[in-house]
Amino acid sequence: MQNRITNETLKNIKQRRSIRSFKDEQIKDEELQAVLEAGLYAPYAWDQSRHFTVIQNKELLDRLNIAAKEAAKQMDFEHLRELGNDERFHCLYNAPTLIIVSGNEQAPIPLEADCATATQNLLLAAESIGLGACWIFFVLLAFNSTQGTELLRELKIPDGYKPYYSAVLGYKNAATVNIPERNSNLITYIK
Ligand SMILES: Cc1cc2nc3c(=O)[nH]c(=O)nc-3n(C[C@H](O)[C@H](O)[C@H](O)COP(=O)(O)O)c2cc1C
Repeated sequence: MQNRITNETLKNIKQRRSIRSFKDEQIKDEELQAVLEAGLYAPYAWDQSRHFTVIQNKELLDRLNIAAKEAAKQMDFEHLRELGNDERFHCLYNAPTLIIVSGNEQAPIPLEADCATATQNLLLAAESIGLGACWIFFVLLAFNSTQGTELLRELKIPDGYKPYYSAVLGYKNAATVNIPERNSNLITYIK
């Protein structure tokens, strides 16, 4: 693709990759606040309809991993069952911080998109300040497990809200990641 225009925002978008290996060290609170603020500024279809839950408790993160893997073992999709049964797989990649983005199911319009825009902003903000991040669907399987209802309560997800997406954050174990070219054949131009 022949794009000649560049700036910090465009570079950040292109440089962001899913990071799946993290240092143990927790991120700084000001880094967390910068990422969360970016989430709050994402576009939405329905105002004040999403909620961010930040989890930085290792014992709870490990429990979410185990509950998600237990639920994955029961899924129809073979790949998920394999991951559920893989003892080396940690669905949060041992990242020190998890942010769950939940949407208010009572809002009059579907909210998944509101949560998705916020999640993407979290990832881009993380990249822009040198943090590693990865969008994580897998951990949400924990809410399908036998402990699902109890976990919603423990995580203080507001009543009527559903966890739609999540992202892990931490310091990257490797400074550079390979950035493969994206397929520009996916675009149709009509002028
Ligand atoms: C809705 C959604 C769910 C995802 N869930 C997971 C996940 O559970 N675990 C994971 O490792 N990556 C997950 N990813 C990350 C994708 O695998 C990743 O974005 C994709 O392979 C492209 O790679 P990149 O992010 O490095 O550009 C998810 C991404 C999206 C958009």
